[in-house]
Amino acid sequence: MADKLIIFDTTLRDGEQSPGASMTKDEKLRIARQLERLKVDVIEAGFAASSNGDFEAVKLIANEIKDATICSLSRANDRDISRAAEALRGANRARIHTFIATSALHMEKKLRMTPEQVLEQAKLSVRFARNLVADVEFSPEDGYRSDVDFLCRVLEAVIHEGATTINVPDTVGYAVPELYGNFIKTLRERVPNSDKAIWSVHCHNDLGMAVANSLAGVKIGGARQVECTINGLGERAGNCSLEEVVMAVKTRRDYFGLDLDIDTHHILAASRMVSQTTGFVVQPNKAVVGANAFAHASGIHQDGVLKARDTYEIMRAEDVGWSANKIVLGKLSGRNAFKQRLVDLGVQMDSEASVNTAFAHFKELADRKSEIFDEDILALVSDESVAHEAEKYAFVSLSQRSETGERPHAAIVFTVDGVEVKSDSDGNGPVDATLKAIEARVRSGAEMVLYSVNAISGSTESQGEVTVRLQNSGRVVNGVGADPDIVVASAKAYLAALNKLQGQSDRVAAQG
Ligand code: KIV
Ligand code: ZN
Repeated sequence: MADKLIIFDTTLRDGEQSPGASMTKDEKLRIARQLERLKVDVIEAGFAASSNGDFEAVKLIANEIKDATICSLSRANDRDISRAAEALRGANRARIHTFIATSALHMEKKLRMTPEQVLEQAKLSVRFARNLVADVEFSPEDGYRSDVDFLCRVLEAVIHEGATTINVPDTVGYAVPELYGNFIKTLRERVPNSDKAIWSVHCHNDLGMAVANSLAGVKIGGARQVECTINGLGERAGNCSLEEVVMAVKTRRDYFGLDLDIDTHHILAASRMVSQTTGFVVQPNKAVVGANAFAHASGIHQDGVLKARDTYEIMRAEDVGWSANKIVLGKLSGRNAFKQRLVDLGVQMDSEASVNTAFAHFKELADRKSEIFDEDILALVSDESVAHEAEKYAFVSLSQRSETGERPHAAIVFTVDGVEVKSDSDGNGPVDATLKAIEARVRSGAEMVLYSVNAISGSTESQGEVTVRLQNSGRVVNGVGADPDIVVASAKAYLAALNKLQGQSDRVAAQG
């Protein structure tokens, strides 16, 4: 029997650390549910001690998600570890992931601790965590740039204290595949009790090699856990991408010889959900989940694929959630056809009531747009107004006027706590006028740090998907809205962002 590769998803922790990618507790739970459908082995749900919001999110996920191991990050101190254990109390299987930096640079400049102090702190923390849960992961932060002799001493000591997983981060994305693979191999060979723990890789993508480095850590180094995020979400250039690592190991099973529990059919829906929630758009040529990943544009390729698909396709689009049935839905499609398409797309709604709401939105959309593509359906079910019924602000209607030589004007109706309000304004363009009209009424004082429009299915008939990122008092949130009218989509996105600004709290960073 082949070895199993453990997939540890950290979208909700390391992914969320990306500036602008912060998520609400409810959004985290929706993504955690999708990760459970994907059958990831471990979900790192957050960093419980970093903020009350993160504590509540870890607790909620630990109480609700029963198939995966639920993990919380914690710095190597008793307070953080106790907070993580408390948040994880409701989990079927709980893991505490504790870390401390071990590179000379981090120890001296950031922690201002001697190597001996760091070693002692690492031991005490793992011992303390093991008294609270059976499953303890230890990470030497900036491990790849640490002195190998010192690192071996630390890792031997923490395994002796009961760490069950040893994760070796390339925190700054400095590694190259062969060197990183050999680094893991050396550690496993030199740490005397290395066989008592599972070895894990955690790579950042600063040089674009996070997936390659992780795979080298598995193949050369013998690691049996990969830490990764959906769409490679994460600070700076991001983390190792889950979909790429999973499909590489599956597609090249002949080479890796490893099994995975992942149900790949749910990959695309997970990718869409994370992109919609965070406003981090997936580039069209992104492997596995990009819009062009399975599109054969050149005549030669199209001809080849039609004759025998494996001439140019190494994976089946259906296997990662792209629908095999390309029949588009329209206004005559019934609830059953709609529901079946949700199943085909790997989307599971929380209740029949959510299906009904989504179906009502689908019908509204079908009245305005003759063909509804899979991308439209995925955008629709991720839409804030479908997912959350009772938000502070909700869009009602918009009229706007723009004419060459005239200053555009918009008049909007939206609800504030269920009560309709009207507002109007001029602006540089129709979108500017609409958002100014909202702001004239709401007076949030938020600064817009990102505005982007994306055509969901690539034609002028398509829905526009707008992302708005707002910043206020050091807090950054994203709002996403979709509609065939991009001005309406912009208004929805702005209101969604304002809703999120309502309930967020500050947090402590994991690396800092
Ligand atoms: O990149 C890193 O070093 C981390 C650790 C906190 C595990 O994310
Ligand atoms: Zn990291």
